[in-house]
Amino acid sequence: MVVSATEYASRIGVDVLQAGGNAVDAAIATGFALAVTHPAAGNIGGGGFMVIRFPDGSVTAFDYREKAPLAANPRMFLDEDGEYSSRIHHNSHKAVGVPGTVAGFVKAHESYGTGDWSRLVEPSVRLARDGFAVMPGLARSLQYALARMEPYPASIAAFSKDGEPYQVGEILRQPELASTLERIMLQGHDGFYKGETARLIAAEMQRGGGLITEEDLAIYRARERTPITGSYRGYDVISMPPPSSGGTILVEMLNILEGFDLASMGHNSSAYIHHVTEAMRRAYLDRARFLADPAYADVPVERLTSKDYAAELRRSIEPHRATPSNPLDIELPHESPHTTHYSVVDAAGMAVAVTYTLEAGYGSKIVVPGAGFLLNNEMGDFNPQQGLTDSLGHIGSEPNLARPGQRMLSSMTPTILAKEGELVAVVGSPGGRTIINSVLQVVLNIIDFEMPIQDAVNASRLHHAWLPNTVRVEQGGIDEATKQALQEMGHRMIVRGRQGLTHCIMIDPLTGERIGAADPRDTDAVAVGY
Ligand code: DON
Repeated sequence: MVVSATEYASRIGVDVLQAGGNAVDAAIATGFALAVTHPAAGNIGGGGFMVIRFPDGSVTAFDYREKAPLAANPRMFLDEDGEYSSRIHHNSHKAVGVPGTVAGFVKAHESYGTGDWSRLVEPSVRLARDGFAVMPGLARSLQYALARMEPYPASIAAFSKDGEPYQVGEILRQPELASTLERIMLQGHDGFYKGETARLIAAEMQRGGGLITEEDLAIYRARERTPITGSYRGYDVISMPPPSSGGTILVEMLNILEGFDLASMGHNSSAYIHHVTEAMRRAYLDRARFLADPAYADVPVERLTSKDYAAELRRSIEPHRATPSNPLDIELPHESPHTTHYSVVDAAGMAVAVTYTLEAGYGSKIVVPGAGFLLNNEMGDFNPQQGLTDSLGHIGSEPNLARPGQRMLSSMTPTILAKEGELVAVVGSPGGRTIINSVLQVVLNIIDFEMPIQDAVNASRLHHAWLPNTVRVEQGGIDEATKQALQEMGHRMIVRGRQGLTHCIMIDPLTGERIGAADPRDTDAVAVGY
């Protein structure tokens, strides 16, 4: 079973499974196919995380997060006048981090894949070269992206018909991307990080005032890491460690909530939302304080994920009153809603959860001329400037500042659940800082409310991130009386569009059947099994 943001990518993953590949092989092939068919977030110019659970119950993870180039420094987002510039930080060649995806896929394949590498890339070479019919969601998102690609002629050329947006059903061909994928197919890691591709990236960086050099590319390495593991009401929770904040904060919130009888409160009742919000508030404060690349900061993961610490935090929650977040009403750094999560389970029961991203939708909007792929704007996930914490929405805490070679803090939370040695579910989501909360709620829906996976995915979600001090609920998520009750407890309620795209898989405990659940918030997403 493969559940991803496009049917093309899910099918390509399933083809690999049917030909005898394992879940890691399928995850890699799906990832390349998303780079072709879901350009908003699928990528080779970005980075991400892969969490794996093997049929024997052992687990591992791959970190192929982007990193800051060697020339980076904490003051790099300031303009000539020494003022912080959101444009430089989020929307410029300096916003581009050294990409990690290809290194991660190659390393995962070398470590746990089977058979020939080239067969995992070849279907995407073809898809890019021959083209594919544009889906409704893609047509909508390309239209939106095109306006923002104006400064970059190579981007307009790659994603429009001479400036005219593609309509649903028209064929999108990406010949330059096909050539880049072909180099990756033939040369693996070096097909991206050395030679032609690396030269083209470095040339575009130089042209646009970016910092990434051929040396930055040559020294990039993906890392295999030990996942965060926690437990929740008898279930094992396996998720991503730093440089993602995802797994640590997810386990911290679950540990706090384990002490409350959520099921008896009722799903999305005022009591439930209050207690979940208070867990979120406390864990997200820790995220802002402590979480960063562990090679550059001392992240107290063990304490943050311990049951004792959670008990301490739980005691500070009042049953009917919101805790103030902070006298300073500041916001955490901007993170935009584009990224993609996909889930894979093979016939043997190997499970793979992948979340990867370009940061914003279509990343930096910069297509590398001659190479046909989009570059990320992941440097935006670093804190803007040392000491700059103000009411305009900036946080300047030390751990997550841009330093040479540092990986920027992420919220991506690819997660696997198991119980008594058996695989239960594969979960994850896009959505910037909302990601951890979306994953949390799918987990609560599965475990506390015993929902079938599609209901667990569909159910309305909420978000609180310590700051801003607001509870955001999805449109239609709660009724007026619930909202009022929460306001009376001191919560500031905001209703807004949608939160997360959780493409999940659950195993039927009786039959062992893999049940795929694409998130209906994403109209192009499809679960494919065989
Ligand atoms: O790594 C992160 O947490 C963010 N760059 C992810 C961005 C994102 O999810 C945008 N989302 N939908």
